[in-house]
Amino acid sequence: MASEQTVHMNGGQGDTSYARNSSLQNAEQNKMRPLIEEAIADLLSTGASLPRSMVVADLGCSSGPNALTLVSICVDAIRSQCLRSRQPPVEVCVFLNDLPDNDFNMVVKSLVAFQQSHRSVVTGVMPGSFYGRLFTSGSLHLACSANSLHWLSEAPEELRRNKIPAYDIDEHVRRERRRVVIGAYARQFRKDFTLFLELRAIELAAGGRLVASLAGRRSEEPAAEFTHAWESVALVLSEMASKGMINRAKFDTFYIPIYGPSDEELREIIQAEGSFSIREMQVHEPASNVESTLISPSKMANLLRAGFEPIIVQHFGSSGKIMDEFVRTAERRWSRRGSLEAELARNPRVILVVSLKKKV
Ligand SMILES: C[S@@+](CC[C@H](N)C(=O)[O-])C[C@H]1O[C@@H](n2cnc3c(N)ncnc32)[C@H](O)[C@@H]1O
Repeated sequence: MASEQTVHMNGGQGDTSYARNSSLQNAEQNKMRPLIEEAIADLLSTGASLPRSMVVADLGCSSGPNALTLVSICVDAIRSQCLRSRQPPVEVCVFLNDLPDNDFNMVVKSLVAFQQSHRSVVTGVMPGSFYGRLFTSGSLHLACSANSLHWLSEAPEELRRNKIPAYDIDEHVRRERRRVVIGAYARQFRKDFTLFLELRAIELAAGGRLVASLAGRRSEEPAAEFTHAWESVALVLSEMASKGMINRAKFDTFYIPIYGPSDEELREIIQAEGSFSIREMQVHEPASNVESTLISPSKMANLLRAGFEPIIVQHFGSSGKIMDEFVRTAERRWSRRGSLEAELARNPRVILVVSLKKKV
């Protein structure tokens, strides 16, 4: 069942871990700093005296250095705001959330070190899906999330039920079916993101804030493409299926539960759900597009491996050979000069960043 798909990132600190292959995502996280600082300033600007304590959370934290980036920005912003207003430090409770299969051992160790170097901060992990309840009602002040909300709760049931492959190896059939497939993914995203907003609206305190980034696509483009990562994984696996390295029938039933909306689509879903006002929405060029030296064929292959190995291995079988072949096929595919750049340009992606405030 796709709803039980293993969508966490590769754990540990080895060569194929998310910890070692997430510098591009870290660059996206750092772009959220101004919006997080604005949200903190707003939360702390309620009058002459500051609140005594705040609860902040990162939803979809993963493991490795990125797991602490957003909450560090929050804690620094809170400390600066207290200093600026000459008030005693506010106590901060920091929660890191991800799915239960995430490498929480590593997260907990880094949280202990973080707590030791930040007085007035207590920390905890909150395992579970952000498409379910995580916090008690009205207890959260700021929820952040980076590079995670394009992950759906499951691949669209209507495709799985009707045995419609997400990525048909036959290019003609694929093109014919594309709208049906993307439409099903878009409906699943709407359902999931609406639920996410409803749940966070219950958990956030009055005036609470939500700052999130996710992969998306440009509004002016028709909804005819997947997000870049999905497309790249599918291209590599379809080549492997055509060459008999993986079972073709298995490839036809492989769905990655990811969807990147346009900014207009996102705006419309937020407005229709109704619990939040939009303070700001930004559309960024991803770091990989802006700084092409950040990306090379082997870096791209490892990045995809770090993010998609668990879900690929779960579906195709646990042999390490599959992933080694995946990396070799990807590197070969992009080894021709300019081919990776051309592939990225054919399917341009953007990062959407949104800053929301819970309505009173
Ligand atoms: C690409 S990583 C992003 C990690 C980190 N925030 C960053 O920016 O580097 C996406 C994370 O979202 C998590 N995730 C996906 N679906 C989730 C869900 N329903 N609930 C909680 N976490 C989820 C994955 O396990 C993964 O760790």
